Amino acid sequence: MATVRPAEEGDLPGILHIDRQSGRNPSAAEALAAALADPTRLVLVAESGGEVLGWGKTHYWAYPDGPAPAGHYLGGVTVLPSQRRRGVGAALTSARLHWIWARTPDAWYVVNTGNTASITLHSAWGFAEVARGPRFHTTTFDGGLGLLLRAHRPGRGPAPEPATRRRAL
Ligand SMILES: CC(C)(COP(=O)(O)OP(=O)(O)OC[C@H]1O[C@@H](n2cnc3c(N)ncnc32)[C@H](O)[C@@H]1OP(=O)(O)O)[C@@H](O)C(=O)NCCC(=O)NCCS
Repeated sequence: MATVRPAEEGDLPGILHIDRQSGRNPSAAEALAAALADPTRLVLVAESGGEVLGWGKTHYWAYPDGPAPAGHYLGGVTVLPSQRRRGVGAALTSARLHWIWARTPDAWYVVNTGNTASITLHSAWGFAEVARGPRFHTTTFDGGLGLLLRAHRPGRGPAPEPATRRRAL
């Protein structure tokens, strides 16, 4: 069973390991450390038995960029390849969305049009396309085209668990 909790400095090696194992450009350790200390952002890890299995963060943009407004954006959820399809990505996303929706009605997310896994994962919370383009804020996309999506806070009560979640963590 994995536990989702705020990331700490001691998690940075595990986070960088996940990025490397996933073939992603590892986040700069200094930038991650700054994100941990930033009250406008949330960085989470999912861990089990002392091992970091996945991580995800949010980013707050204080100003708009074309169709991409100011606001809280999900960012960079990544799960160890050996631990995928076990609900870790969904748990990290649910927790970050609860945090964003406690602060603002809209959560934002950008993704490469070819990232089926990520798009399917996020669709469970009702993310809908707002725009598509080559760049939103500082994010560009391999292959050149990305999506900007928004999910509204549910009308009543806490954010729902994703409709596709069937397994307990
Ligand atoms: C996207 C990613 C975070 C998903 O993590 P995960 O822990 O495997 O996701 P979950 O197990 O919580 O999956 C939840 C649901 O998302 C969807 N999903 C996840 N991976 C999928 C895939 N490869 N193909 C299609 N749907 C997928 C499914 O609906 C899944 O539910 P199911 O397993 O009951 O069918 C993971 O594939 C990853 O780290 N990818 C590389 C990094 C990346 O692209 N991050 C997103 C950047 S925008």
